[in-house]
Amino acid sequence: MSTAIPRLAASGAGSSGGGESGYGHLLREGEIDVSHRVILYLEDVSVSFDGFRALDALSLAIDDGELRCVIGPNGAGKTTMMDVITGKTRPDAGRVSFGQSIDLTRMRESAIAQAGIGRKFQKPTVFEQHTVWENLELALKGERRWWRGLAWRTTLDEARRIDELLATIRLEDEARRPAGLLAHGQKQRLEIGILLAQEPRLLLLDEPVAGMTDEESERLADLLVALEGRQSIVVVEHDMAFVRRIARRVTVLHEGRVLAEGTLDEVKADDAVVEVYLGR
Ligand SMILES: Nc1ncnc2c1ncn2[C@@H]1O[C@H](COP(=O)(O)OP(=O)(O)OP(=O)(O)O)[C@@H](O)[C@H]1O
Ligand SMILES: [Mg+2]
Repeated sequence: MSTAIPRLAASGAGSSGGGESGYGHLLREGEIDVSHRVILYLEDVSVSFDGFRALDALSLAIDDGELRCVIGPNGAGKTTMMDVITGKTRPDAGRVSFGQSIDLTRMRESAIAQAGIGRKFQKPTVFEQHTVWENLELALKGERRWWRGLAWRTTLDEARRIDELLATIRLEDEARRPAGLLAHGQKQRLEIGILLAQEPRLLLLDEPVAGMTDEESERLADLLVALEGRQSIVVVEHDMAFVRRIARRVTVLHEGRVLAEGTLDEVKADDAVVEVYLGR
């Protein structure tokens, strides 16, 4: 059942080699080498669609455990960046590595997900007719047992883990409700719970608060902030009230490149950012 994971050359992504990068780390299978604190590197990544450059030599690094916001105008390449990380789109050029040693550009979407990158799409994909508890149970048991499904006994450990997840996503009181009856924001939190059940090292969220009420959006912000340090998260969002709630380091994309990076106040004060995105 093991997946072949292409390893990068021993010099370590982006480094000039030497030192201990690539050597000297004994990793168990499935482990991600974050010896340089970085969980994800994009280096000079370019993607063109019919001659149009959606990503233009984009370079970016996300630290392990970091909560990073990516903002920028429509068409800046934010979703394309996530498509490249998850293997949905192949870059024309550049390197994408997960930790120091895993080359994502040579892996299939399913292998990337298995290696520990979870992605949340805008439309929640929960099993509507199953309860919240069952949705988490299925996610925990994983794909292999999925179709044999609920007939499998849930161990005490699994039950404890589901309780933990319910607390994290604040759906303890909804555990026995069919997921189809949840409010939009609750469904979105359930989907994050389903992703967390699979214990990804990196979670990608593309416009997670679209369609949420202010209260739901505040709850999601609290959830993401609570995951900081335990979970690396990249959030793409236009909703600046939400971004302000969760912002640590913020990256502004424009025309497929990084226009600015820093705290939200720093990027907001950047003339180039003001001109192309945030205005005034
Ligand atoms: N499959 C595709 N075929 C052709 N062009 C595409 C494709 N995917 C994206 N593009 C183009 O690439 C550019 C970047 O799109 P992308 O969806 O990454 O932007 P975005 O930053 O996510 O924008 P938004 O904030 O509106 O979601 C856009 O001009 C878009 O039209
Ligand atoms: Mg987008």
